[in-house]
Amino acid sequence: MSAAAKPLAPAAPARVPAHVGVIMDGNGRWAAARGVPRALGHKAGAEAARRCIEAAAEAGIGWLTLFAFSSENWQRPAEEVQDLTALMRAYLKTEVGRLVKDGVRLRVIGERERFGEDTARAIAAAEAATAAGARLNLNIALSYGGRAEIAAAARQIARRVAEGSLLPEEVDERLFGGFLGTAGMPDPDLIIRTSGEKRISNFLLWQAAYAEFVFQDVLWPDYGAAHLAAALDDFAARERRYGVRLG
Ligand code: IPE
Ligand code: IPE
Ligand code: MG
Repeated sequence: MSAAAKPLAPAAPARVPAHVGVIMDGNGRWAAARGVPRALGHKAGAEAARRCIEAAAEAGIGWLTLFAFSSENWQRPAEEVQDLTALMRAYLKTEVGRLVKDGVRLRVIGERERFGEDTARAIAAAEAATAAGARLNLNIALSYGGRAEIAAAARQIARRVAEGSLLPEEVDERLFGGFLGTAGMPDPDLIIRTSGEKRISNFLLWQAAYAEFVFQDVLWPDYGAAHLAAALDDFAARERRYGVRLG
């Protein structure tokens, strides 16, 4: 066989992260810049979330976790908490059809029961309705805090040990991860934060051990497919080492 007839070496596989986490930040500043109420910033933020979900599915990302409401966000003024929970309930109602159509499976991580029984029920119904979605796994982190999640896992494990159904020696990283809200899901490869802030704000603390971070100077309501594409390009150029010496 002549050299020319040799099959070309396959191109390096596109490095698409299996799991992307997004700290959707900047709704308040977006609203302030326009002189409109913060609630409108959050509403525009929900629309940006929709664009991001579609773009993630298009890009072939398997898992997308959107940080929508933190454990600490309960400490915001009651009016803002009310606006955010009302928006979330409306979103659950209006989006389920679109998610099903787009093959998106929705799961909520975080302390959903803190939103009250009705909302927790609506969340469970949306999860059930989208359970067959196989194109994109979408997690929405609601009343989510990494420390609260880790403490809850430790509490459950302690209970099992106290009951005698688990030995302290059996508690390792694998077992511990199985008690988190993300049990059975891949760790995030890439975490994106918008709005220019460069902190993790209690997002996926355990799971982010070897995540790559991309900080983008865009307010969340302005986020679109081009921003996600830029973050994915940035990720594709990173060399991940996991503490191991390469070469
Ligand atoms: C992100 O936007 C949404 C939530 C945290 C609920 P912010 O409301 O934090 O907006 P900024 O950071 O004040 O601009
Ligand atoms: C992080 O944003 C939480 C969410 C995006 C839901 P915050 O706006 O609450 O974080 P801080 O207060 O700037 O750290
Ligand atoms: Mg913020």
